[in-house]
Amino acid sequence: MIEIKNINKSFEDKQVLFDISAEFHAGKTNLIIGQSGSGKTVLLKSIVGLMTPETGQILYDGRNSLAMNVRQIKELRKEIGMLFQGAALFDSETVLGNVIFPLRMHTKDSYQQCKKRAEFCLERVNLRGADKLYPSEISGGMQKRVAIARAIALNPKYLFCDEPNSGLDPKTSLVIDELLSDITHEYNITTIINTHDMNSVLGIGEHIIFINKGHKAWEGTSQMITHSDNKDLEDFVFATPLFKDVKGYLASQGK
Ligand SMILES: Nc1ncnc2c1ncn2[C@@H]1O[C@H](COP(=O)(O)OP(=O)(O)O)[C@@H](O)[C@H]1O
Ligand SMILES: [Mg+2]
Repeated sequence: MIEIKNINKSFEDKQVLFDISAEFHAGKTNLIIGQSGSGKTVLLKSIVGLMTPETGQILYDGRNSLAMNVRQIKELRKEIGMLFQGAALFDSETVLGNVIFPLRMHTKDSYQQCKKRAEFCLERVNLRGADKLYPSEISGGMQKRVAIARAIALNPKYLFCDEPNSGLDPKTSLVIDELLSDITHEYNITTIINTHDMNSVLGIGEHIIFINKGHKAWEGTSQMITHSDNKDLEDFVFATPLFKDVKGYLASQGK
């Protein structure tokens, strides 16, 4: 579990995050949702340690990462898998080479052991047979799956994904969402996913934090979201054309 407490973050004189506290549970897909510019990426980067908030605590199963020394941070990093915007694969490495990379970097295992683990992860994301291909030779959805295989190579306890579906078509997005959700349950990972995709929200949102203009404005499950009486959340949810129709339908049914 990751617990964040009273996170404030500013850039020069502009405050972007306002006193955010939340819990993200193990074995669950925790979603951070909100409009573009609401602060999702800054929040995720603050949790991972790519940005430093001015105040607060970030507790990884009780360990406050903001109070850690360099060596402790390095140890914690090994427990973290990351999937940031764009697949960010190494173009000059094969699919297999990309997944082997973190294993060679962070373990003392032999090349053969690393290769075996990488092949297992590629199989887990249904990419058997693509080992020798280069990123430029595979589709965007496949690249994303390679990035997921790489993110889970070190068996992370925590997995962070920033807009994992950006640039993917709806059908491929569904495959990626289901893969992330399955992996989370299978390996009991504390997964945090940033998204503004309502399909993802309703599909895999077990625990949802809604950020509005840098404030935590709502928290709940996908079942609760269409019945919330939070005006800002409603604006966000029903900004998607399909959901506008749903809203009209619910109103016409007196719900
Ligand atoms: N490095 C930065 N320097 C200054 N402002 C930033 C920086 N990163 C993000 N911001 C600002 O913080 C706000 C939130 O951005 P972001 O977290 O990227 O939103 P989201 O991910 O929800 O689309 C925006 O107003 C953005 O301009
Ligand atoms: Mg973002």
